[in-house]
Amino acid sequence: MSTDSILRSKIIDGKKRSLTIREWIKSEILKLKESYNFIPGLAVIIVGDDPASHIYVKNKEKQSIESGMNSWKYILPSDVSEKEIIEQINKLNEDSMVDGILVQLPLPKTSSVSERNVINAISPEKDVDGLTIINSGKLACGEDGLFPATPSGCIILIKELSLNLAGKKALVIGRSNLVGKPIASMLLKENCTVTIAHSKTKNLIQECKNADIIIAAIGIPNFVKGDWVKKDSIIIDVGINRIDNLDNPKKRIVGDVDYEEAIKVCKAITPVPGGVGPMTIACLLLNTLKASCIRRNIESPIYNFTV
Ligand code: GUN
Repeated sequence: MSTDSILRSKIIDGKKRSLTIREWIKSEILKLKESYNFIPGLAVIIVGDDPASHIYVKNKEKQSIESGMNSWKYILPSDVSEKEIIEQINKLNEDSMVDGILVQLPLPKTSSVSERNVINAISPEKDVDGLTIINSGKLACGEDGLFPATPSGCIILIKELSLNLAGKKALVIGRSNLVGKPIASMLLKENCTVTIAHSKTKNLIQECKNADIIIAAIGIPNFVKGDWVKKDSIIIDVGINRIDNLDNPKKRIVGDVDYEEAIKVCKAITPVPGGVGPMTIACLLLNTLKASCIRRNIESPIYNFTV
């Protein structure tokens, strides 16, 4: 094999995988419509005018509709009060057409609204982001529930590469509620030996060199260097960083890992873009499908999710 094809064989194609998942969701929704005459629906609330957040929300809306779901979007001004956001959430909690509710994060920096209060106002059975205290607790305790989409997408990709994760050393870099903490719980459930690294971690390079699996979720462009990673490791890059392009006014998107270097050493790596990003929306739609079936007491096809 040429060097080029060896490198190409190491790429974990999240875009391709997410497409097969979304096709599967689409076929399940058609079946639900025929058998039970309902369509799952996702409502997204976005506060303020952050362009990147609006792009993410637009993609969620587009892909919900493409998969056959109902989709609603609520754009609230950046100076909206906590009470007003929670009133909107309560309306959606009570709306029987709505199966999933998501508040796009982060809330505007200028806002004095408590992110925790807003998230916890979402009914746990409609919390398709898996961020309420109830669903976070269920994940931490190993119970079934609705769990965050990005970590779920990472786990799907990892499990396909390495069937038996038991005893594998997994390093999670970053301790956010959105990614770091939930993925650590998920890896623990797979019987990995899990380390969570963060800004105060000592000797991070050595931690990386010891790891069979690295999950980089710190939001610093090209942070993990090629010579930090172990031969034959699996690298999952959650970072989406917009950086300046040398000779092009358009920003370029890079991950938290120095991809060009790391791919030469590791066994497999997710590219940015085209790795974890597309899996996030696919898993959000999976959660919405799951929530819709559980709420209606329908045997959930998600339990047999094999694609
Ligand atoms: N912002 C970036 N990723 C996410 C996500 O998965 N959920 C929410 N609510 N906001 C995000």
